[in-house]
Amino acid sequence: MDRIIRVVGEMESEKGKSRILIIGVTGRVGLEVAKASLAASHPTFGLVRESAFSEPNKSLKLQTLSNAGVTLLKGSLEDEEALISAIKQVDVVICAVAWNQVLSQKLLISAIKTAACIKRFIPSEFGLDPDRSRISDLDNHFYERKAEIRRLIEAQGIPHTYICCNFFMSYLLPSLVQPGLKSPPRNRVMIYADGNTKGVFVKESDVAAFTISTVDDPRSLNKVLYLRPPGNAYSMNELVHIWERKIGKILEKIYISGEELLKKIEETPYPEKMEMVFIYGTFVKGDQMYFDIESGGGVEGTQLYPALKYTTIEQFLDTLV
Ligand SMILES: NC(=O)c1ccc[n+]([C@@H]2O[C@H](COP(=O)([O-])OP(=O)(O)OC[C@H]3O[C@@H](n4cnc5c(N)ncnc54)[C@H](OP(=O)(O)O)[C@@H]3O)[C@@H](O)[C@H]2O)c1
Repeated sequence: MDRIIRVVGEMESEKGKSRILIIGVTGRVGLEVAKASLAASHPTFGLVRESAFSEPNKSLKLQTLSNAGVTLLKGSLEDEEALISAIKQVDVVICAVAWNQVLSQKLLISAIKTAACIKRFIPSEFGLDPDRSRISDLDNHFYERKAEIRRLIEAQGIPHTYICCNFFMSYLLPSLVQPGLKSPPRNRVMIYADGNTKGVFVKESDVAAFTISTVDDPRSLNKVLYLRPPGNAYSMNELVHIWERKIGKILEKIYISGEELLKKIEETPYPEKMEMVFIYGTFVKGDQMYFDIESGGGVEGTQLYPALKYTTIEQFLDTLV
């Protein structure tokens, strides 16, 4: 993989490509963003906490990235000096810290403002649009925190792009949206409400390639970009139908009403309840798909870069049969 990335990087000119700093390169989506940045020949930097170098699993990832051409800089979201020094070396900052670290981006935003050299900032979102969520009192401020970071970025006048890719494929889809399961059911399946509301699942490496495609694109400047590839948006009824076809078996369906799901959420402590909260938001309330993107001022990203191909839900489910 390293060699392929390197060769591709060497063949293409790096001229005109923004230098990209990624925070969170040891993480699920940050690692993919770093690989996509290299594959697109961007000079790529990773800001890495000291502790990651001594964890075997993470240090292996870091070694691989470093061999492939990523410049690793030591620092953290709490270290203002390291942040400013790293930011001054690049044009674009992409933050991919975990959901519970979202508010820690405040110092980063202030450092970006101080450094005054950043052409684009992509904050850690990578989900559904926090300004469109309609479950605000259920989610322990999950979306409120992401929206708060948006408002700060806008108030500081920092050029930005918000990536709303909806669900990652590795989240919920491996169980066919069955909380607590690790693989799709083969006997009984839960379907939420009437099962007709659609959700979107996009593979992390595809989200990463898309994210990198936006950084130098004027069409994505100060915009919310949404991903809804046609082969990646299905209702629970459709998902179950596809799965039944693949395994050649009809499953017993258990319909869970919105009220029943809400009751289960109320009975389940935080953070264990969050899977059900996301299922409720998407497959009961329809929060990923209820609005028209263009009339809401957003950009439908799927059509922007025709060269990008999205792994479909069908293809992903084939790997689970
Ligand atoms: N749409 C979906 O289905 C979905 C699913 C999951 C996540 N997400 C979203 O994707 C984003 C990234 O989540 P993830 O699951 O990819 O995260 P993750 O795997 O937990 O990785 C987090 C990364 O952030 C780094 N980090 C944490 N605290 C830091 C700090 N104080 N300073 C510097 N680096 C720090 C970690 O570094 P260390 O190695 O030092 O710990 C790690 O590299 C979040 O906004 C999350 O809400 C979306």
